[in-house]
Amino acid sequence: MQYEANTLEHHWLPFTSNRDFKQEPRLLVKGEGVYYWNHKGEKLIDGSSGLFCCAAGHARKEIAEAVGKQLLELDYGPPFQLAHPSSFELARKVAALTPDGLDYVFFCNSGSEAIDTAIKIALAYHRAKGEGQRTRFVSRERAYHGVNIGGVSLSGMMRNRETFGAVMPGVAHLRHTWLAENRFQRGQPEKGAELADDLQRFVDLYGASTIAACFVEPIAGSTGVLVPPKGYLERLRKICDAHGILLVFDEVICGFGRTGKAFAAQSFGVTPDIITMAKALTNGAQPMGAVAVSDKIYSAVVDHAPAHAVELFHGYTYSAHPAACAAGIAALTIYEKEGLFERAAALSPYFLDAVWSLKGIPAITDIRGYGLLAGIDLAPAERPGARGYDATKRLFAAGLHVKFTGDAGIIAPPFVAEKSHIDQIIDILRKILSQY
Ligand SMILES: Cc1ncc(COP(=O)(O)O)c(C=O)c1O
Repeated sequence: MQYEANTLEHHWLPFTSNRDFKQEPRLLVKGEGVYYWNHKGEKLIDGSSGLFCCAAGHARKEIAEAVGKQLLELDYGPPFQLAHPSSFELARKVAALTPDGLDYVFFCNSGSEAIDTAIKIALAYHRAKGEGQRTRFVSRERAYHGVNIGGVSLSGMMRNRETFGAVMPGVAHLRHTWLAENRFQRGQPEKGAELADDLQRFVDLYGASTIAACFVEPIAGSTGVLVPPKGYLERLRKICDAHGILLVFDEVICGFGRTGKAFAAQSFGVTPDIITMAKALTNGAQPMGAVAVSDKIYSAVVDHAPAHAVELFHGYTYSAHPAACAAGIAALTIYEKEGLFERAAALSPYFLDAVWSLKGIPAITDIRGYGLLAGIDLAPAERPGARGYDATKRLFAAGLHVKFTGDAGIIAPPFVAEKSHIDQIIDILRKILSQY
């Protein structure tokens, strides 16, 4: 085949309708603050912090300089049986943000890797404790835990799992927490705590001694922002404690201030045994994920092995890559210096008021939100997802980037946004969504 020099043909784009995209491409060529620019030179406001990554806004000089400096100093070093200083510094900074008692951090390169790492750590923990028969996992309908085989098996989103989800056996799904009677409730819904008792039913059905861990996103993000009902996470914690099951919070979206505190675990006052994170860990400037584990998990796995032996047979060539560590340190320094988690908390009421002002637009069937994260459901058109995709394109053409999953739009502005930026995002949403 003969292609032009600048053909779009060869890149198989992820989670993208490739054929449609290549007919009418949407290319981003520049980012700064809360704005993007496309290849036509048009300016767009970023209503989803990229993909929930860029909490401190785009093109932060401090991060770019730290990465450049690191690459010139030490570009790469093998992470197995060797290390470099900045990984320890970043781990210390992350451990200072996680809830007390989650003090050990394992690095990887994405949220998906964080999930599969957490699955393996849970298995290794139980095995070290002499309970290697705990191989079953519990997750939830409508969950998104990335795309690797472990995460996709935990996933509760049909299109993500129908082709790939059956590879890892022994996963049971809690019911999701969307309830019609909670529609348009702001913050944590009143009803639904009892849905956590599904975990008890799995204990009764399979035996607690077969269950390794229960994975949940504190707020289910990618499916359209399902905020946990009041008391729900507490009940999960209680059932896990009663039966020796590890509780894992997937905070890939929630982590690093999105809920107004460093982690949603702190916003909701429930401490899991493991937290997975990625995205805003580096403000999106370098690929990186991490898994924070409790002291009891770290010591069980590490102390179990003979001295001088590798304790956990897991790791990536790019675990704790120097450039990613530099980006992470610089990002966390910005968050702290600029008080961005507090800023997110302070901006939240204004943001949620603004999002709720969209209630009444005929196509909007539900709104949910917490912190600087909100989901809007659109009534489906001819087939599920068609309207969401159409809205993505119309909003982009009108100067707004918002991520849609199916017919649910997920609004998550950068924490550096001003009230006027929130107004701009909402104005475009109002204009476009009123067209349906
Ligand atoms: C809760 C959650 N877990 C895991 C992932 C996967 O992260 P990544 O795309 O970095 O692999 C995502 C991505 O959106 C996520 O929202």
